[in-house]
Amino acid sequence: MSVWSKHQILEKNSFVLLIGILIVVAIGGLVEIAPLFYLKSTIEKTEGVRPYTPLELVGRNIYIREGCYLCHSQMIRPMRDELERYGHFSLAAESMYDHPFQWGSKRTGPDLARVGGKYSDDWHVEHLIDPRSVVPVSIMPGYPFLAETKLSTRGMGDHLKTNVLVGVPYTEEQIASASRDVLGQAMPDTDASDEFMERYPTAMVRDFDGNPKEVTEMDALVAYLQMLGTMVDFSIYDDKANLR
Ligand code: HEC
Repeated sequence: MSVWSKHQILEKNSFVLLIGILIVVAIGGLVEIAPLFYLKSTIEKTEGVRPYTPLELVGRNIYIREGCYLCHSQMIRPMRDELERYGHFSLAAESMYDHPFQWGSKRTGPDLARVGGKYSDDWHVEHLIDPRSVVPVSIMPGYPFLAETKLSTRGMGDHLKTNVLVGVPYTEEQIASASRDVLGQAMPDTDASDEFMERYPTAMVRDFDGNPKEVTEMDALVAYLQMLGTMVDFSIYDDKANLR
């Protein structure tokens, strides 16, 4: 029996052929999946990416609670029309601390992955209170109550701890001072904000909603939006690749 006539056994028995196919597909699967378990990190570390501050984290919770993701994605695809409209395509590292991630595919409104710094805080506050006051044709709903709702800092430490469980590297100190840090980031020139800046040196501290009397849900949501897409300085990488 030559090698090729032995192959007839496979060709003439559909069941044997099926087993053969499964073995071959399993090898392909192992080659692709097994290395992921041995790599130290599946996501390339990228300079500048840091865990969210407690205030940004609360803002992100409000974003999810209000269903912003139903109309907005947060992932720029590497295609020319998207690059020209939104900026550099999204990197895996940029959402490595997102639990759950907010990539999405539904775009009734624009992608928000790089909206940070695009508008002023005032613009966001006005837009969120009444979108049509700044974009007359907008179909986005208003969220005026955010500016009137005092921010709750309850359970912030536990919230950070839960993130640690899924791999976000918050320190013991950051967990212990989480509730204080929520307020510190939105109250510049206070002891709380000085301490906050020591723990999160690259975060922005300011009165995001323009109301110095209290820290509101609006502060948290605007802090979150203004941070989106600002962590990575892409000019470093473009210079390295001689793109500029
Ligand atoms: C019903 C769909 C819908 C929902 C829900 C929605 N938006 Fe929008 N959003 C839009 C549309 C449409 C636009 C474009 C018109 C405009 O700027 O208002 C937009 C624009 C924006 C912009 C400006 C983006 C840019 O680059 O110009 C921001 C920021 C934004 N939305 C944030 C939010 C946040 C935060 C929430 C949740 C609190 C939210 N949106 C909920 C539809 C929606």
